Amino acid sequence: MTQKIHMTTPLVELDGDEMTRVLWPIIKEKLILPFIELKTEYYDLGIEERDRTDDQVTVDAARAIMKYGVGVKNATITPNADRVREYGLKKQWKSPNGTIRAMLDGTVFRKPIMVNNIKPAVRSWEKPIVVGRHAYGDVYKNAEIFAEKGGKLEIVVTDRDGKVTRKTVMEVEGPAILQGVHNTVASIESFARACFEYALDQQIDCWFATKDTISKVYDQRFKNVFEDIFAEEYRERFKAVGIEFFYTLIDDVVARMMKTRGGLLWACKNYDGDVMSDMVASAFGSLAMMSSVLVSPFGYFEYEAAHGTVQRHYYKHLKGERTSTNSVALIYAWTGALRKRGEIDGIPALVSFADSLETTVIECIEEGYMTGDLALICEPKAVKVLNSIEFLQELAERITAKLRQ
Ligand SMILES: NC(=O)c1ccc[n+]([C@@H]2O[C@H](COP(=O)([O-])OP(=O)(O)OC[C@H]3O[C@@H](n4cnc5c(N)ncnc54)[C@H](O)[C@@H]3O)[C@@H](O)[C@H]2O)c1
Repeated sequence: MTQKIHMTTPLVELDGDEMTRVLWPIIKEKLILPFIELKTEYYDLGIEERDRTDDQVTVDAARAIMKYGVGVKNATITPNADRVREYGLKKQWKSPNGTIRAMLDGTVFRKPIMVNNIKPAVRSWEKPIVVGRHAYGDVYKNAEIFAEKGGKLEIVVTDRDGKVTRKTVMEVEGPAILQGVHNTVASIESFARACFEYALDQQIDCWFATKDTISKVYDQRFKNVFEDIFAEEYRERFKAVGIEFFYTLIDDVVARMMKTRGGLLWACKNYDGDVMSDMVASAFGSLAMMSSVLVSPFGYFEYEAAHGTVQRHYYKHLKGERTSTNSVALIYAWTGALRKRGEIDGIPALVSFADSLETTVIECIEEGYMTGDLALICEPKAVKVLNSIEFLQELAERITAKLRQ
């Protein structure tokens, strides 16, 4: 390959924090810039810039994704009290992912990156299980009360016309706890459409589960929304590409998941997705081998790694110590975004570059060259354990050789 690939529309690039911020420019310099005339619109979502702009930069970045359609995001610190002290922040800014998700109305899809020398803990899993997590409401937006003396525990709705509906949850004698959760039908509809669109895009079956036999209003509404939207908008499109939608109970789906060969989308309610995506990531090998994409029903895509800023490695890096941070999921964030840009803009060379880079990463690890986190779990033993930069250098040599062939 002699000429660099030309892009027509910019990718929205959202930079982040700590160790992943250290690796970000090196990934670009070694693996992307030599091959692509990269066009990006850059937003610095590092914690200092978010603090300086009162988090306006996060909102601007989300708007840019809505304008151009595709973003690639680095991992960012969600500040807690410790971070406020560490960086002298004005306040505990909200999670950038939460802000972006609320603006794009998205669903998060997490997909394990599989290599043949790391065996999933579940023996039957041959292909990735993608977890699609609804990222609105439920327990994450709850109201809770500790009723010290017990009493009548109720839920109340006052609708827009002032009509009050009241239900007793339980009357109890001693101290008790009460929790109120909600979701909106509009959000559940977006979630269903995002899942069906993703399944179509990847040509994989979509499984969804709730506990509708117990929760006859709340969970049953999720079930009905999925089934109605599928019947009205997706049944024929699924049939045309030979994929299926399957609904069952959450306990049944967990049992079936352990016997499946994988290669499907598991659409999960918010809490189920929170818990199950970590189980799936761990069972497939490592959080550093989990790609993540936020898909909006309006056709916006934001790619990122599923992991955080790898804080512990960053402190080692600051002390000048050797780190072995695995950059695979970050690289996949770039390849995912470049491929999508190529598909939307009709640039096959961009799509095939993304494919080649991913193949290079997989071949490199399968031939035994990897970072320390993978060396601990791979079989047979690693040929060479590389540090953060050596791994990227190894990939750079391999992709250069591959594309010059
Ligand atoms: N999407 C995001 O932007 C995102 C997600 C999670 C956490 N965070 C932020 O990241 C910071 C650190 O959080 P954390 O420590 O809970 O999560 P983390 O994902 O950074 O690290 C969790 C564990 O996994 C290991 N790990 C993760 N990625 C790795 C990689 N690429 N290579 C090797 N090992 C890896 C780390 O050593 C650590 O033990 C926090 O400030 C948090 O707010 C951001």
